[in-house]
Amino acid sequence: MALATLLCTISLALLSYGQPEISENHNSSDLLCTCNKIAVALSGASQVFFPPTSEYLFDIEHAASSSTEASACSVEPGSVEDVSEILRILGSTRTPFAVKGGGHATNPGFSSTTGVQISMSRFNETKVNLMSGTVEVGPGLTWDQVYATLEPTGVNVVGGRVAGVGVAGLTLGGGYSFLTSQYGLAVDNVAGYELVLPNGTITNVTSEDRDLWFGLRGGLNNFGVVTKFILKSHPQSDIWGGFLLYSENQLDAIKGALVNFQKKNDTKAEVITTRSYSSGQFSIGVAYFYDAPTPSRVFDCLLDIPATGGNVSTRSFADLVQNLGPLVSTNGLRLFYAGAPVSQYSPAIFDSFVNQIKLWGPHLWALDKNVTVVATLEPFDKGLFSHGSDSAYPPDRSHAIFPSVFSVQWSNASLDEKMAFALRNMSNIIRAAALTDGQNVSHAAVYVNYALYDTPLEDMYGGNVGRLRKIRAAIDPDDVMGLSGGFKF
Ligand SMILES: Cc1cc2nc3c(=O)[nH]c(=O)nc-3n(C[C@H](O)[C@H](O)[C@H](O)COP(=O)(O)OP(=O)(O)OC[C@H]3O[C@@H](n4cnc5c(N)ncnc54)[C@H](O)[C@@H]3O)c2cc1C
Ligand SMILES: *[C@@H]1O[C@H](CO)[C@@H](O)[C@H](O)[C@H]1NC(C)=O
Ligand SMILES: *[C@@H]1O[C@H](CO)[C@@H](O)[C@H](O)[C@H]1NC(C)=O
Ligand SMILES: *[C@@H]1O[C@H](CO)[C@@H](O)[C@H](O)[C@H]1NC(C)=O
Ligand SMILES: *[C@@H]1O[C@H](CO)[C@@H](O)[C@H](O)[C@H]1NC(C)=O
Ligand SMILES: *[C@@H]1O[C@H](CO)[C@@H](O)[C@H](O)[C@H]1NC(C)=O
Ligand SMILES: *[C@@H]1O[C@H](CO)[C@@H](O)[C@H](O)[C@H]1NC(C)=O
Ligand SMILES: *[C@@H]1O[C@H](CO)[C@@H](O)[C@H](O)[C@H]1NC(C)=O
Ligand SMILES: *[C@@H]1O[C@H](CO)[C@@H](O)[C@H](O)[C@H]1NC(C)=O
Ligand SMILES: *[C@@H]1O[C@H](CO)[C@@H](O)[C@H](O)[C@H]1NC(C)=O
Ligand SMILES: *[C@@H]1O[C@H](CO)[C@@H](O)[C@H](O)[C@H]1NC(C)=O
Repeated sequence: MALATLLCTISLALLSYGQPEISENHNSSDLLCTCNKIAVALSGASQVFFPPTSEYLFDIEHAASSSTEASACSVEPGSVEDVSEILRILGSTRTPFAVKGGGHATNPGFSSTTGVQISMSRFNETKVNLMSGTVEVGPGLTWDQVYATLEPTGVNVVGGRVAGVGVAGLTLGGGYSFLTSQYGLAVDNVAGYELVLPNGTITNVTSEDRDLWFGLRGGLNNFGVVTKFILKSHPQSDIWGGFLLYSENQLDAIKGALVNFQKKNDTKAEVITTRSYSSGQFSIGVAYFYDAPTPSRVFDCLLDIPATGGNVSTRSFADLVQNLGPLVSTNGLRLFYAGAPVSQYSPAIFDSFVNQIKLWGPHLWALDKNVTVVATLEPFDKGLFSHGSDSAYPPDRSHAIFPSVFSVQWSNASLDEKMAFALRNMSNIIRAAALTDGQNVSHAAVYVNYALYDTPLEDMYGGNVGRLRKIRAAIDPDDVMGLSGGFKF
């Protein structure tokens, strides 16, 4: 305590000239004081870092440069008790903070801050429990790391499809996987959480805890900091998959084959398909997944179409995920997402997505030569929501909704607003097109992890917003989690 005070006095003395105000109540000397308070309070398992150390730079780094901010310091907690201590200090000093898992949030400020950056990287354990059929996973891991660790065990978990994406953010927002048609969303395959509540209390959350269980499954960082995910495991053999690239003149053939694919009833089969514009070129990508070493005939129509690049093969699940990067590269450029949910990929809807890419691609490329505009379409089995119980997301499990997403990458920061405008426009037009197509999407929920930063809560959480607000008020009466960014109930 005496040391903490001394450190604060020193940092105040060092910084009493010409420091910019960081926010209304937090100038940089306040922030350094909080950083030092945290440093002194933590056990040897944890550490605080300051700029410009490599640890600090690693802690604040995000997949999209638009999601990275220079925090006053970063902290890597190494024990649950230290996470608790950090939250208590941040709460009592009312210090802005952020929690980072895999750092793939595409909304600025959701896992970054000019206050205190918490990086969960030291929570990196993957522990298989064959008796209970679960795997304990640390929130500092990315999915490719988890799959690589699980590869020799013959079991797998339901998580992300691209290397680098974090376990934490994906699971807290819902989570679409290559196994979703078979087993549901990532949230449907959680058996329990270890959670540090906003007031610092450490707790385990299971289906017995009605409200927190409901809220944590889709409710992002509203209810505290998760320090462990206990995930249900499933047997995993080698799989078949990869990705193939196609030229623009195959558009109609691909559309026809995908319409046909959706009529098949094989939950082991999944595709993700992209329509992209980059450097004056329009292209099509299809990522293939089949949950067995050899695919059924479900992909035949697609595989008959000549591809211009890529490959598919029998391989491990981990190997597939590790190598899908080229389909959805983040490049460290600026990046925003905007969801465009539909209930069916009909020919008219395929055309609408393509039209938006062809319209906005050249227009945005004229402003910034690093622009890539992508529509990612994700057909799943119609029963995808039948594998779980009521949760924050999705708000309505009675109808299948597919979570398509538009994304734009660029490099000039003064174009941020323009890119957000274009994304809103594209997703509005898809909703209108789906209604015209006879789809019941006027209230279809936007997937939380694909939603642009200013998306109204009702558009993602529908009729759940009221209940979520009540849970939040009871769990976090002092609004500690409000000191960190993200959608807030
Ligand atoms: C290239 C790419 C591919 C993607 N692929 C998929 C996909 O296949 N399926 C899918 O469903 N989504 C996908 N997404 C979306 C993805 O789910 C989100 O970007 C998600 O936020 C990533 O989680 P993260 O841990 O990497 O993010 P972070 O930026 O670290 O965190 C995201 C949010 O979670 C909060 N958070 C992080 N850790 C904790 C914690 N321990 N406790 C409480 N809150 C915490 C953060 O504060 C923030 O609000 C993809 C995104 C990208 C950019
Ligand atoms: C920073 O703010 C605190 C109060 O929050 C104030 O006491 C201190 O003088 C300020 N320091 C500077 C350098 O403005
Ligand atoms: C977990 O992180 C520690 C350092 O904090 C490192 O020594 C260890 O190798 C990591 N484990 C895994 C499985 O990545
Ligand atoms: C949470 O569960 C684990 C494992 O069952 C147990 O060791 C731990 O004590 C529990 N924590 C709390 C706060 O109940
Ligand atoms: C799909 O297959 C499952 C089991 O394989 C079967 O129960 C279901 O009725 C089939 N649905 C359709 C629409 O064919
Ligand atoms: C398959 O494609 C990946 C990604 O482009 C590439 O790295 C790999 O070398 C290819 N493999 C074969 C056998 O062509
Ligand atoms: C494109 O991005 C690269 C790498 O980030 C950068 O060096 C270059 O200046 C950018 N080009 C333009 C036109 O902004
Ligand atoms: C970035 O965009 C702004 C606004 O359109 C423009 O004025 C500026 O020249 C651009 N900068 C670069 C490096 O292209
Ligand atoms: C989309 O933007 C165009 C202008 O670029 C505008 O004419 C149109 O009304 C917008 N549509 C929607 C649904 O936002
Ligand atoms: C449309 O969807 C809503 C839920 O989003 C549902 O209540 C309603 O019954 C559906 N209407 C039809 C005609 O299916
Ligand atoms: C912390 O919050 C939980 C959940 O609202 C509550 O049950 C607990 O009593 C609180 N603990 C303290 C010390 O205030």
